[in-house]
Amino acid sequence: MAPRFQAPRGTRDLLPEDLGRWQWAEERARGVLERYGYREIRTPLFEDFELFARTSGESSDVVQKEMYRFQDLGERDLALRPEFTAGVMRAYLEHGLGGRTRIHRLWSAGPVFRYGRPQKGRYRQFSQVNCELVGSAAPGADVEMITLFVDLYQAWGFRDLTVVLNSVGQPASRRDYGERLRAWLAPVRERLSADSQQRLVANPLRVLDTKDAGDLALFRERGELPRMLDAIDAADRAHWDAVLAGLDAVGIAYEVDHGLVRGLDYYTRTAFEVHDRALGAQSALGGGGRYDGLIAELGGPPTPGVGFAIGLDRALLVLEERGAAVPAPAAGVYVAAMESTRTAALALARALRRRFPVELDIEERAFGAQMKSAGRSGARLLLIVGEEEWGRGEVVVKDLASHTQETLARAGLEAALAARLAQAPPDPPAAGARGAHRTETP
Ligand code: HAM
Repeated sequence: MAPRFQAPRGTRDLLPEDLGRWQWAEERARGVLERYGYREIRTPLFEDFELFARTSGESSDVVQKEMYRFQDLGERDLALRPEFTAGVMRAYLEHGLGGRTRIHRLWSAGPVFRYGRPQKGRYRQFSQVNCELVGSAAPGADVEMITLFVDLYQAWGFRDLTVVLNSVGQPASRRDYGERLRAWLAPVRERLSADSQQRLVANPLRVLDTKDAGDLALFRERGELPRMLDAIDAADRAHWDAVLAGLDAVGIAYEVDHGLVRGLDYYTRTAFEVHDRALGAQSALGGGGRYDGLIAELGGPPTPGVGFAIGLDRALLVLEERGAAVPAPAAGVYVAAMESTRTAALALARALRRRFPVELDIEERAFGAQMKSAGRSGARLLLIVGEEEWGRGEVVVKDLASHTQETLARAGLEAALAARLAQAPPDPPAAGARGAHRTETP
């Protein structure tokens, strides 16, 4: 019988066996972020709807079609965050961070919400790792961001990633480019999808975002796409050249994509993404860019910024498909007791849990049943609290990986166990032999 309740469409449960990979990825990311000098900031899961409408852009898909917008009981117009940047900039202004030091390096991670059509790699609740560098307009800031972006993927084992980038200029040059795009598409305008025809009127750059096969065929028919890089002014061009030179200097591989426009409207100058073919249509693993007008748009002093977000669900999906191994969880200790030593074992387990992962039978089962559980538990060491040994102040310790056994004194037991757990286990047993890993079936 199907269960009465299921997770809402577009959301997923992450079960304990899935979370090893997530926690490993989050830990690796945290290490890289700390080494780059980024500090974590946590903002609410929901904000005023207006904050997102103003920053993402009224005509963006995110605002038009994908917002989880709701009224609370106080009739406030709110929305679940569809991304981090707007909330982080709101917090930056609200707490006057700009008045403390000029440059802020901030990261966040957690769930974001977009009401899209669910498919592989596309969910209504998904997770991002998000970074922002606020307060510097220098090309060096863009270079640091893109380098950090690539280094995060590298820490997860991605190799040979190519970043695609473009300049999206400034609002004025974008208007100019929009006109060029309209002129370029004029001969095929009536044959474009209804969505693209609308976009051509409201926000022509958005047309380049289309996934419609017919539209893409028409683009090919028109030949070479007008280049945003031909429409930007001299200062933006100099910035662009300096960013590319910086990427060359640090050895980041990139390709210029003249058709790259981002799905959110706040970008100026540099825009970048990485893609992976394994994800099919939802190929963007992450993306970002510069947003020099965003803080002023929110009523703050003109303050430049650059940032990115990585879609963690998609990155992990790719790693999983490639069969990337995740380190096994730390193997600990299984404490087994006799009828007469149960209370002693309980107290011993509690003491050992100050240092090691410890498992213990809570159902007063027979010794044989405890042995079976120990074998399945993934524990490296089995501690047997026997009546006689315990009477002498000793326990029996079996190494389930090397199949060796010894008797150790309770006094100093923690140090002795730590030394044994730190030893590398012997080579895995031959097929069919009994091992001590959690993945093995009983
Ligand atoms: P974004 O390109 O909208 O940028 O999203 C970043 C990443 O989130 C995408 O590349 C993708 O991997 C992932 N993503 C987006 N939608 C979904 C979905 N429905 N399901 C699964 N993954 C998804 C931003 O959000 C900007 N705030 C990045 C930024 C930060 N720009 C400056 N600072």
